[in-house]
Amino acid sequence: MTENVPAGLDQKVPSSARCWNYLLGGKDNFAVDRAIGDAVLADYPAIKHMARASRAFLRRFVTVAADAGIRQFLDLGTGLPTADNTHEVAQRAAHESRIVYVDNDLLVLAHARALLTSAPGGVTDYVDADVRIPEKIVAQATETLDFSRPIAVLMLAILGHVRDDDQPGPAEVVHRLVAAIPSGSYVAINDSIRTPASEAALEVARRHGADYNLRTPTQIGAFLEGLDVVEPGVVPTSLWRPDSDDPAVPLRFQPLDMYCAVGRKP
Ligand SMILES: C[S@@+](CC[C@H](N)C(=O)[O-])C[C@H]1O[C@@H](n2cnc3c(N)ncnc32)[C@H](O)[C@@H]1O
Repeated sequence: MTENVPAGLDQKVPSSARCWNYLLGGKDNFAVDRAIGDAVLADYPAIKHMARASRAFLRRFVTVAADAGIRQFLDLGTGLPTADNTHEVAQRAAHESRIVYVDNDLLVLAHARALLTSAPGGVTDYVDADVRIPEKIVAQATETLDFSRPIAVLMLAILGHVRDDDQPGPAEVVHRLVAAIPSGSYVAINDSIRTPASEAALEVARRHGADYNLRTPTQIGAFLEGLDVVEPGVVPTSLWRPDSDDPAVPLRFQPLDMYCAVGRKP
């Protein structure tokens, strides 16, 4: 990828968004990202399925939320545009849906401005912010979303970028966001879990300059403390309400090192 590289972007430093894009078969990545992807894939091919399962979960969750009447979405850790971005799924269900994307990656924001356009009647907006500053995110999202009406918050494959000793840590990030949204809102979390295989893959990634914080399904579920966790609970991502449109259909009965859960604010 040589076009549309934003000023200030260091092509020698890997990025989560670009590595994820490579795993999804995209072209918006550099040699340094492909090197990590290839090194991890060599011993851990499941990570490619995890990236696809995360996108398929996004599509299913947004559809479920839209069916429940949600018309506002806050997608934290958007990633690079790919098939079935949040606004496309939400506005397919209800064209008037309003979406705010949040990321702190220079390339994501460059592409978001160019590619993530809204359907007529709806709105799509972008916030350049670190997820560890929820108050800034809420303040800027307020320009597009009405925080007195229910919002679906997505945190898919992002909380692993927040360390337990960060200030705020991942639980506090979620709790501050939950405090800002009204009753009837939804929060979806999806993340990699700690297994011998995922820990070995993380060691490989660390040798290439990337890091992540693997957690247990119990820890991921605990992030939704205070919310009503909807069926089927905290489960492997491909098992959360699978449907016949799912491109990851063959995977739905396979255990992936990735769990998700959805909570509804009472
Ligand atoms: C693994 S990708 C996941 C993309 C998408 N949510 C999905 O599931 O397909 C993680 C995304 O989170 C973003 N990210 C990582 N740390 C972040 C932070 N502290 N604040 C905001 N975004 C962050 C990255 O730039 C990247 O786009």
